[in-house]
Amino acid sequence: MTAARPFIVAIDGPAGAGKSTASRLLAARLGFAMVDTGAIYRTVALAAMRGGIALDDDARLGDLLPRLDIRFGPPAAPGAGPRVFLGAEDVSIEIRTPPVSLGASQVSARPVVRAGLLDLQRRLATAAGQRGAVLEGRDIGTVVFPDADAKFFLVATAEERARRRHAELQRKGDRSTFEEVLADQRRRDRNDTEREIAPLRPAGDAVVVDTSGTPLETVVETLAREVEHRLGRGRREAR
Ligand code: DC
Repeated sequence: MTAARPFIVAIDGPAGAGKSTASRLLAARLGFAMVDTGAIYRTVALAAMRGGIALDDDARLGDLLPRLDIRFGPPAAPGAGPRVFLGAEDVSIEIRTPPVSLGASQVSARPVVRAGLLDLQRRLATAAGQRGAVLEGRDIGTVVFPDADAKFFLVATAEERARRRHAELQRKGDRSTFEEVLADQRRRDRNDTEREIAPLRPAGDAVVVDTSGTPLETVVETLAREVEHRLGRGRREAR
């Protein structure tokens, strides 16, 4: 018999590698829940900023965490990502603003925050009634679920990732230049890969997928085939 926990898919990688869209499409195709762990770090940053808490004040961040009620709700429109709630408030838009993005990268470097969010991430992924979950983040395959059933690490060149991010910001009416987006991304990459705790790196058993110049449908197809293969193998082994 295999364990009764849902099938866990870990999708890690740097900003702009295509994780969000790929995770959303993959979860929809498989009928799995999706857990955007970056959104959780973003919501913590938002709550801390609103509360006037310095983003390196470990004592106050540690006090804040257990008081936060962070949840995901159904998308606002078909095909959109899950909505993010802080208590009863829909914060989905506010957590994507540049100041909160920067704040999220700062709070995510604090060990007290990373440790305090482990349980929430695991609970959301293994909630009753779910067949499986796709978790998107930076340390899912290395720290949150080192025993995930399938692990992927998406990569793309820095220029391609910045191009995607720049196009997305332009669609939202943001006027940042490509050079600004690239510089901001380099800063975030540095924060994510050089921090002492849970630095961004592929798990030894992750499948590394380069998404540069690859249509997203092809990326999702690659991930889905791998998961379906492993799901099938799990079923055969359980017999
Ligand atoms: O994926 P994102 O851009 O929404 O993530 C926001 C920030 O949170 C980013 O700086 C990386 C960090 N993060 C993290 O450290 N660990 C995760 N599992 C997810 C995100």
